[in-house]
Amino acid sequence: MTTPAIQMRGIEKVYPDGVKALDNVDFEALKGEIHGLLGENGAGKTTLMRILYGEIKPTRGEIIVSGEKTSFHGPWDAIRKGIGMVYQRFALVPTFTVAENLHLSYLSIKPQASMSESLDRAKQIMSETGLNFPFDAVVEDLPVGLQQRVEIVKALSRNARILILDEPTSVLTPIEVRELFKALRKLRDNGITIIFITHKLKEVIELADRITVLRKGKKVGALVNDNINPGILAEMMIGKSIKEIGEKRRSIGRKTLLKVEGLTVYDEHGIIKVDNLSFEIHSGEILGVAGVQGNGQRELADTIAGISNPSKGKILLGNKDITGLPPGERYKLGLGYIPESRGIGLIFDMSITENSMLTNLHLILSKGRRIQWSRAREISGEIVEELGVKTPSLDALVKYLSGGNQQKVMVGREIVREPDVIIVAEPTQGLDISAAGFIHSTLLELRNQGKGILLISSDLDEIYELSDRIAVMYEGKFIGTGTPEELTRDKIGVLMGGVRT
Ligand SMILES: Nc1ncnc2c1ncn2[C@@H]1O[C@H](COP(=O)(O)OP(=O)(O)OP(=O)(O)O)[C@@H](O)[C@H]1O
Ligand SMILES: [Mg+2]
Repeated sequence: MTTPAIQMRGIEKVYPDGVKALDNVDFEALKGEIHGLLGENGAGKTTLMRILYGEIKPTRGEIIVSGEKTSFHGPWDAIRKGIGMVYQRFALVPTFTVAENLHLSYLSIKPQASMSESLDRAKQIMSETGLNFPFDAVVEDLPVGLQQRVEIVKALSRNARILILDEPTSVLTPIEVRELFKALRKLRDNGITIIFITHKLKEVIELADRITVLRKGKKVGALVNDNINPGILAEMMIGKSIKEIGEKRRSIGRKTLLKVEGLTVYDEHGIIKVDNLSFEIHSGEILGVAGVQGNGQRELADTIAGISNPSKGKILLGNKDITGLPPGERYKLGLGYIPESRGIGLIFDMSITENSMLTNLHLILSKGRRIQWSRAREISGEIVEELGVKTPSLDALVKYLSGGNQQKVMVGREIVREPDVIIVAEPTQGLDISAAGFIHSTLLELRNQGKGILLISSDLDEIYELSDRIAVMYEGKFIGTGTPEELTRDKIGVLMGGVRT
């Protein structure tokens, strides 16, 4: 038997605050395999991989790379041993060009390298993998899918033989996912080991050769990907079988809850982001907006919520024109907004109660406009209870909550004031299947109570699971709309690329 590329033995990690993230975990990945790493939010996947990447030290345990026992004092040690990691939040310098980023990173293994040498190396990897992108673009102007390619090529340029990808597909469109998978398979066939963290069970079954499952810091098992279905994996991850969410499609009500007329929004560079858009949302309806990220979805959501201003057009909530109102006034009138990023919606250094009040101030101000903290605690207590937020206390800072629990706080604080219309963007990005399932059933329940929901998502499975009607957004317009039955996956795929059928 050949020596595994990576062996981790008896890994334990206790964080300084006493959280035991990993407990006696063994992990093994072979040369030239794609290895899926699964587990619920907080299971310890990222911790295990950050240890392998030398970024944090294990409390106990050993790491063996190609048969040789090693200990890393930082990522540089790991990089020298041929390990590369691509995080969900990329480590590129956003204001530098792609070329500058590639050069900067290549210098770390070859300090004398010239710019052209660095770029030649990158070009070589690009042609081997088919992962292409422009060199002269400034990183922050590139879509996330391309930034990710830069990260992968960067790691491979530094001779990575083991490539760790932490939830790489959550930011990608279906077409980008297909291209990424093609590249990863090529790399595997060239003997590279790929460790792939995901919450999407279908993806791991499609791509992985073997799969390791963690649960609450312990290894549940490692299996060969043969005759495996999502149910088996879900059960290993959660420890019990999951029930399908019971969804009954109801007929959509006639009452128009939200009306958008000729909405036009420019960004700060004067580029048109929302282009003369008109649509309605009715009671008991989820309108799913599909599309490649960056086609105006965020600007649309922010403008309806009152965070950005349109240059033209009208927004009506019920019969009331809310176009010029500040966000707080809109919230008071029955609008809810769950933005796409927890980093925007939450203030991490504030407590659950304080975060719960960010959009609900009007509920806790007394007549003399003083904050009634006891009322605030009552409300946040309700949110925690209703949504099942796992936390030791209402005063816990949200930065200490897992992603799923943070998301629950964002959802809970919007639904607690029972808005008529809720705008929700990428509600389950990065969440495990039980947290995502919970959020989905909550949204369906709200729909069934007669609320109108604008769901913005780049996850097509989510769009199909929840939407009563689907609109595909492309360059600021709805380029196609229809029911989920009318808009098949193939049709949506084509529309997402901007081609009308
Ligand atoms: N820097 C840190 N300090 C303290 N505790 C941490 C730290 N990072 C992670 N933890 C805790 O360690 C546990 C494992 O977290 P980890 O991020 O490894 O999980 P994960 O499996 O990657 O989850 P997710 O799917 O949400 O990304 C969690 O309980 C988490 O709250
Ligand atoms: Mg993680």
